[in-house]
Amino acid sequence: MTRRDLVEALSPGDTERIVIVGAGHVGATAAYALMLRALFREIVLIDRNPDLARAEAADIADANALARPARVRAGDYADAAGAGVAVITAGAATHGSQSRLSVAAESATIVTDCVNGLMGAGFHGVLVVASNPVDLMTRIALRSSGLAPAQVIGTGTLLDTSRLQQTLSEALKVSPGSVEALVLGEHGDSEVAAFSTVRIGGQTLDRFCGDQVTLDRAAIARQVRDAGYDIVTGKGYTSYGVATAIVRICEAIIRDERAVLPVSTLLTGQYGWSDLCLSLPCILGVGGVERILAPELDPEETVALAASATTLIKAFADLSVAASPQ
Ligand SMILES: NC(=O)c1ccc[n+]([C@@H]2O[C@H](COP(=O)([O-])OP(=O)(O)OC[C@H]3O[C@@H](n4cnc5c(N)ncnc54)[C@H](O)[C@@H]3O)[C@@H](O)[C@H]2O)c1
Repeated sequence: MTRRDLVEALSPGDTERIVIVGAGHVGATAAYALMLRALFREIVLIDRNPDLARAEAADIADANALARPARVRAGDYADAAGAGVAVITAGAATHGSQSRLSVAAESATIVTDCVNGLMGAGFHGVLVVASNPVDLMTRIALRSSGLAPAQVIGTGTLLDTSRLQQTLSEALKVSPGSVEALVLGEHGDSEVAAFSTVRIGGQTLDRFCGDQVTLDRAAIARQVRDAGYDIVTGKGYTSYGVATAIVRICEAIIRDERAVLPVSTLLTGQYGWSDLCLSLPCILGVGGVERILAPELDPEETVALAASATTLIKAFADLSVAASPQ
């Protein structure tokens, strides 16, 4: 079956419409990038500020004749009923060196509100969550939506993995797409740059570097972890990287690619963990997460991943306590 046949085999609602809740920096950039990639015939922006959604949709639609035609418009939750994919980008933004976890309570209220709107309208597709702290928001979205775990995906460490590939690419002078690498765990301060998973032309990092290249792995991991803070300090927000991660996830779903991408998902016993969302490599297809993979890690990485899981479990427990009636 060709890729076209697969897309044709999907129901029209699955391929034609995507709704994006939150028309701020991330949502609008994702809509623009989705239009350029021509994955959907209709892109609907929903925001609690309808004037903003209308203005962003009109601005993107201005590019239609010059780029890839799609119907880009502002809408409301009723549009979610016929959408194959919904993306939530509404959430509390962080400022300066503020950690993602520190805005969890504010984002949780917003994400719950968005999920209620989507589900109230009869949404039954795949839900992609980008709002930070994304691992906790994925879990909140899963719990409040009642969707199957496979249908709720956080952008997770796909962005951090792309940053790691880019950083290694510059150090090793190999194109980023030729550097296989994974950042796992929380999309945030406890994330794990898993250097043991790096492959370049099938070679491990040690073998590729040999005696000729010395890499400061700790410095690279720090640089990747802090990249978001550096960008927020410089321009006030981040948008292009995460928007491209959103597009890549949507593409894998809508084309039923069965691509392996590190995204945040509900664990079901991997490394002994369950009942929390964090990033592991997942096979993504038309149903969402088709399978969660647990790569072999070195002992230090395994310990770091456990610490990341523990951080998220505690943060979720704190969030639940804060949200429960006194
Ligand atoms: N996952 C990632 O890699 C990543 C990267 C960057 C930003 N983010 C996160 O994405 C979120 C959005 O960031 P941004 O820079 O676009 O922020 P922003 O403030 O520019 O946009 C947020 C938008 O959400 C809307 N909104 C808020 N509450 C709403 C509600 N209840 N219903 C509908 N719309 C609502 C606001 O009106 C605003 O337009 C933040 O949580 C941010 O931390 C995630």
